[in-house]
Amino acid sequence: MIERVLTQATTLELPIRPRRLRATPGLRRMVRETELNPADFIYPIFVTHGHKIRQPIATMPGIAQLSVDEAVREAEKTAELNIPAVLLFGLPAHKDPIGEENFATDGIVQQAIRAIKQAFPEMVVITDVCLCEYTDHGHCGLLDDHGHVLNDETLPILADVAISHAEAGADVVAPSGMMDGMVAAIRAGLDVAGFSQLPIMSYAVKYASAFYGPFRDAADGAPKFGDRKTHQMDPGNGREALREAALDVAEGADFLMVKPALAYLDIIRQLRDNFPELPLAAYNVSGEYTMLKAAAANGWLDEERAVLETLTGIKRAGADLIITYHALAAAAWLK
Ligand code: PBG
Repeated sequence: MIERVLTQATTLELPIRPRRLRATPGLRRMVRETELNPADFIYPIFVTHGHKIRQPIATMPGIAQLSVDEAVREAEKTAELNIPAVLLFGLPAHKDPIGEENFATDGIVQQAIRAIKQAFPEMVVITDVCLCEYTDHGHCGLLDDHGHVLNDETLPILADVAISHAEAGADVVAPSGMMDGMVAAIRAGLDVAGFSQLPIMSYAVKYASAFYGPFRDAADGAPKFGDRKTHQMDPGNGREALREAALDVAEGADFLMVKPALAYLDIIRQLRDNFPELPLAAYNVSGEYTMLKAAAANGWLDEERAVLETLTGIKRAGADLIITYHALAAAAWLK
């Protein structure tokens, strides 16, 4: 009797029941708001000199430094999985204060661009444009006598790097150094060199983050002294992200990016809402990758579910594109 009364009462009091739409896999699929697609992913590749080289990166299980021939094989896997784009980082043969190989016609990234574009003309080849992997001091710009990163003196080098990537056949250049005016300088350089159609994906909002740690092993790009806090953003700042993004839009950026992704999902959402006209990328960085790989390796998390949930969260926050080391695995799981 009491049970019957309770049943009637709850029926009356709960006309709205969200669980109705969760009852079956079919219903859940129909009402899913955010779904991942391999077309959302950009896969980073680290290219190194030599032949048949696959040098595993200890802190990033599953990721390796690849010689150009191996990078082409990796691009083939990327294409087979229907992922539209790769993002190239280079490990030069020699480092010097300026980073000469960065803008050399036969530099490692330039070689990789040509080889990948020749093998897979449809693949969108994006290149990171920064100094830190090429300079002997490991900083993202030229240094003055006191070891401070020079802003304006660095800009022409960034433009030269971008032009050399464009000449090699890159489809998009992605400046990551957080120098003021970098997008304007690169845009002007590309236009003069005849590449006015080449888009710029700006690392518009890039924080000084602990989560780049494993990448700095992968790309051998750690600063030899000091840190990057005079150009990368302070993790506490949200409003400043809008200022950085607005500046890059005004300078002619074609894509915006937030980096890292997971500790900055609110920033992704703010950029999505404030700059609805531009495609937005989020960089799911090396440390974010490593956290999940480490937990999965210990059997502490179900890797497939945790990775797909993480990437879905980044997309739900507002990212159109996700640069992620999980791209190949995630695209395979989505099949
Ligand atoms: C700089 C650059 C970095 C990353 C991408 N581009 C390192 C840094 O700013 O120190 C980090 C990417 C990652 O952690 O996955 N060229």
